[in-house]
Amino acid sequence: MWVRAVAPGRVNLIGDHTDYLGGLALPMAIDLSTEVHGERRGDSVELASDLEAEPVAVGLDDPLGDVGAGPAWGRYVAGVVAELRPEVGFRGRVSSSVPVGAGLSSSAALEVAVALALGFEGTALELARACQLAEHTATGVPCGIMDQLTSAAGVSGHALLIDFSTLEVRPVAVPDEAEVVVVHSGEPRSLAGSAYARRRSRCEAAEELIGPLRSADLDRVDDLEDPVTRRRARHVITENARVREFVGALDAHDLERAGMLMVESHESLRTDFEVSTPALDRLVARLRATPGVYGARLTGAGFGGCVVALGAPEAVQEGWRVQASAGARVEASG
Ligand code: GLA
Repeated sequence: MWVRAVAPGRVNLIGDHTDYLGGLALPMAIDLSTEVHGERRGDSVELASDLEAEPVAVGLDDPLGDVGAGPAWGRYVAGVVAELRPEVGFRGRVSSSVPVGAGLSSSAALEVAVALALGFEGTALELARACQLAEHTATGVPCGIMDQLTSAAGVSGHALLIDFSTLEVRPVAVPDEAEVVVVHSGEPRSLAGSAYARRRSRCEAAEELIGPLRSADLDRVDDLEDPVTRRRARHVITENARVREFVGALDAHDLERAGMLMVESHESLRTDFEVSTPALDRLVARLRATPGVYGARLTGAGFGGCVVALGAPEAVQEGWRVQASAGARVEASG
């Protein structure tokens, strides 16, 4: 059986480091995507890639056992195979327009495309969950489900308001007069896995003291004695509030307000959550000073990678001008 599966990358407009705490975020699937095409057959998954020199070969019986010998990107493929345990293998090719290591979820796009190519059947949420677990297996980083869910559930022309406590997804129209541009800081995103995990466990420690951050009052952070824990919790609580307000601003076509909230989000990620870098800060400052730009912020985990800017059409003359796109899809024949 011949198969072609396509899964988009994503950019997060606002709401970072909230997903693994049952909070809110507003990502959108973008028109940069990863495609896996080929034939379902055999007892291994063999993929070549337009972007990578070395192909990947993962056996169906012991997918993770093979992983050490092959190239690094094979870990994601092996993670998906380990999660799905397909009965039939695959032989084909990967091509992608999602820049790798930019914070646009190239790994989630790969996982989702591979899962569909291998015959995954289920809802977008089930697909995202399987791919999130594959990512955990592949990287050891305890990431949330935002990236995989956005890639799986994207809606053309819309960002997705995701409530991670219920996993409810509400499409929010991106106004036509707004342009979303993603600009790379020039620093590869070292998703300093251990720094991400430390942020997460610090927030979980805060929750043990003051309850779920998604519903905590900002005043409660004063009850946290440790200053670092207090800052981390303050970011999460204020970021959730900004996501809500941002959706209201988009609904009202108030792009000035939306842009200000992006700038506040960046400041919070820089000072309270401490996941920005000098290069990201310089880029945000430069984009903010560009005429026609409403706001800009780092997007995704931070520690390098990309900035997302909201601007009037043509205001930003660099980076990728991205459109909100539909989620992953698969076609099979024969
Ligand atoms: C990475 C993770 C997501 C999310 C973001 C930060 O992209 O994969 O789950 O936590 O960082 O918002």
